[in-house]
Amino acid sequence: MSDDLLNDQNNTVTAPAKTDISHIHDFLGAPTPKAWLEAAVNDLPTIIQDHANCEKKAAGTAMNLIFRYEFHQDLQMKLAQLIREEMLHYEQVVGIMEERGQKWRHLPASRYAKGMLKHKRTYEPAAMIDILIIGAFIEARSCERFAALSEVVDDERLAKYYRYLLKSESRHYEDYITLARSLEPKDGSSVDLEALSKATNGSINTDEETMNIDQRIAFFKQVEAELINSPDTELRFHSGIPA
Ligand SMILES: [Fe+2]
Ligand SMILES: [Fe+2]
Repeated sequence: MSDDLLNDQNNTVTAPAKTDISHIHDFLGAPTPKAWLEAAVNDLPTIIQDHANCEKKAAGTAMNLIFRYEFHQDLQMKLAQLIREEMLHYEQVVGIMEERGQKWRHLPASRYAKGMLKHKRTYEPAAMIDILIIGAFIEARSCERFAALSEVVDDERLAKYYRYLLKSESRHYEDYITLARSLEPKDGSSVDLEALSKATNGSINTDEETMNIDQRIAFFKQVEAELINSPDTELRFHSGIPA
């Protein structure tokens, strides 16, 4: 990648300072298994191709949320920024592929996101809470894997690029958690539930169980760790233990 691709939008050159991601290790239910790291290092073209797909998907998912939850001002702002950053990453990863002489290859998605999305509740605001929490886990895991990869890949430019990503990916994780927490009832509710009902064409259920964000985080923490720690036949950026 050319050096200007390592600049962020403010045009400041990114000599990645050490980003503290200990809060991300605490958030996740399990660290990346060594066997995945070994397989990833042995097949970087697959990891880089899937990484490109993930950046594009992260932007696409956030765009869908912007349309669906148009009444939520903070979500509009945070996700608009996230989409810009994910598309910049996409551009950068495609640039890396070009530099490495790596041809675009169609790679079907891993089981990872689907494995969490199948637990997404179908009614609001539960669906909104769940998709924001799932978004947080995907961002947190990405961040954790970039950090782990940056320590083991022997291509220093790639390692540097992975370190550069830590700052934005850890902020994306935090933004998704903040947005999920914005639905927590505090003195009534901080979210306009009538607008939510209108925006989603449906009835809403705000009983205590539905609105318990901590419980949902704990639930998805387990589901996510299980996906990461169980055998997986396909190597992908978010795959489990190579079967
Ligand atoms: Fe990204
Ligand atoms: Fe991200």
